Amino acid sequence: MKYLIFLSGENLELAKEEVLALAGKKKCKQHNNIIIVDSEDFNYKRLAYAHKVCQHIFTCKGIHLKKVIIRNDWQKYYQKNFAVNTYKTKLTGLELANIMWNKLKNPKVDLLYAKTKFEFFEIENKVYCGLQLWENVEDFNFRKAHNRPGFSPVSLHPKLARTLVNLSRVKNKMLDPFCGTGGILIEAGLMKIKTIGTDIDKEMLKKAKKNLNYFKLNCLLEQKDAREVNYKVDAIVTDPPYGKSSSLKNTEMKKLIMDFLKNAYKILPKKSYLIMMLPNNLKIKSKFKIKNKIDFFIHKSLTRTIYIMLK
Ligand SMILES: C[S@@+](CC[C@H](N)C(=O)[O-])C[C@H]1O[C@@H](n2cnc3c(N)ncnc32)[C@H](O)[C@@H]1O
Repeated sequence: MKYLIFLSGENLELAKEEVLALAGKKKCKQHNNIIIVDSEDFNYKRLAYAHKVCQHIFTCKGIHLKKVIIRNDWQKYYQKNFAVNTYKTKLTGLELANIMWNKLKNPKVDLLYAKTKFEFFEIENKVYCGLQLWENVEDFNFRKAHNRPGFSPVSLHPKLARTLVNLSRVKNKMLDPFCGTGGILIEAGLMKIKTIGTDIDKEMLKKAKKNLNYFKLNCLLEQKDAREVNYKVDAIVTDPPYGKSSSLKNTEMKKLIMDFLKNAYKILPKKSYLIMMLPNNLKIKSKFKIKNKIDFFIHKSLTRTIYIMLK
């Protein structure tokens, strides 16, 4: 099926990578915050950096929209009742809905709970039209670090944590070897992925346990040095220590990361992914292939880089 995806705007490159990972594709068409991708197996309900996913109906020039709407067969998409949402189109939703109304058998409109939602988005004189399949209603803020019983100031925003998990293409079991209070493990667990979390710090693990229990999630938690972990998993997703505020246990960061990567390369099966956040000025070398590096702005003195690495 051909999908039309409306991305959220914070980081379009990251949003696109997330779509490609979940759609199992290497390429897609992108026009600002719109993506069109063909996929046979697209787990779109996991997306964090997207507002909506539609079945793509057509793309046309803005000036041709009326003509295309008159010509199109809307009945084949219609179920029970309908609504039309427009973003920046020259024709209003009401004008578009009126044309469609005349082409449907016994049409009904339901503006609040429509079963059939048609979406129109105009961008630089091009109109994209789709049938809505899914809307992102995930309340990531509810799971932010300060709303969890085991608090840590360095825990990632849940929306970002979820994207990192998605970038790893994990299907079954995932490891976070610098798990801290479990931010990444929570997002993976909520997507029904089996998880293992390890950390060198016992106190962090206690907090992670509390947090996972709070969300009723199972996870194997063990106190381990990330350079020595040895588990059978199909992906690693992690946010290693990066500065003064997070515990380094007297080890130089670069050396810690390089040693960790050596071990990770040994334990991961071929063609599996390692996703990790690092300070953007840190240069690393490893046997992993770096598929992409995406900068993620945290605040004015901290930008981190997301590494998408493949064995
Ligand atoms: C940036 S924090 C991880 C934050 C985590 N994502 C969360 O949601 O809380 C990095 C973690 O790495 C742990 N750490 C530091 N050195 C380690 C090592 N050698 N092996 C394993 N964990 C280590 C720290 O204890 C800390 O919890």
